[in-house]
Amino acid sequence: MPYTDNYERDTNGIIIFWIRNHYDHARFFDREISHHEMELAHANQNMIQILGNLLKKAETKTVDCKILIDEVQQATQKWHSFLSYAIARALRCEVIISTPTALLDHMKREAKESIFVLDYIQSGDKASPADASIHESYFWLRQMSDHLIFISHYLDASNYELHDEVKQKTSKFTNLFLQANALRTMMPSPRKEVLPVLSNFNQMVIKEAKVLEAFKLELDDIIKHCAAVTTSPPDLLEHIAREAHHLWRNLEEMVIS
Ligand SMILES: [Fe+2]
Ligand SMILES: [Fe+2]
Repeated sequence: MPYTDNYERDTNGIIIFWIRNHYDHARFFDREISHHEMELAHANQNMIQILGNLLKKAETKTVDCKILIDEVQQATQKWHSFLSYAIARALRCEVIISTPTALLDHMKREAKESIFVLDYIQSGDKASPADASIHESYFWLRQMSDHLIFISHYLDASNYELHDEVKQKTSKFTNLFLQANALRTMMPSPRKEVLPVLSNFNQMVIKEAKVLEAFKLELDDIIKHCAAVTTSPPDLLEHIAREAHHLWRNLEEMVIS
């Protein structure tokens, strides 16, 4: 089943997007904790359980969104604290894990963003199209550039051609992130109108995010068939393709979600 069959844009769908995101992160992390780290592994397994149960609950589509958001926020807060703890220990070289600290931080930023987005949905506020576009690009473009760096991290060094391709894409998304940051400070909030320069930038990001989504899905297929030498979790590429999809959908609708 293609992952987009699991992707819906109503409030329940957005809650599922975020909770699945954290659930995947916890599962990916589980593979990379050394057996010397029983305490960390158990705490993480507990998170997998909590996040997995919430995902199942959300997928029934029968729970009131307000109640569901409250529960998801609590679990995400817990997940965020756990990651902060793991990062603090990793920075002191106190844990044996193969997950890069930058990747832990990446997951932590997604946890923080999800808390922000779900609070925002709960508040009923509506950002102006320009504010929403800048917010989404500024947050997600850094994540997109990170994803490419993490693809390199998991790809075996023997994939020379693929490494070159990923490197080129990384530099493109790093530049797009820098541009989003420049536009963010050039046009401070509240932004009342979508200036042509922003509209043009949005179109460029939408186009590039679609290309990136397709690239990640191609690679997903290769990895699932074990046709590239990699240590990547089998569904990591699908996970990050979904995030590219989420970015361009939000930019097309000019919403925060
Ligand atoms: Fe993610
Ligand atoms: Fe991500």
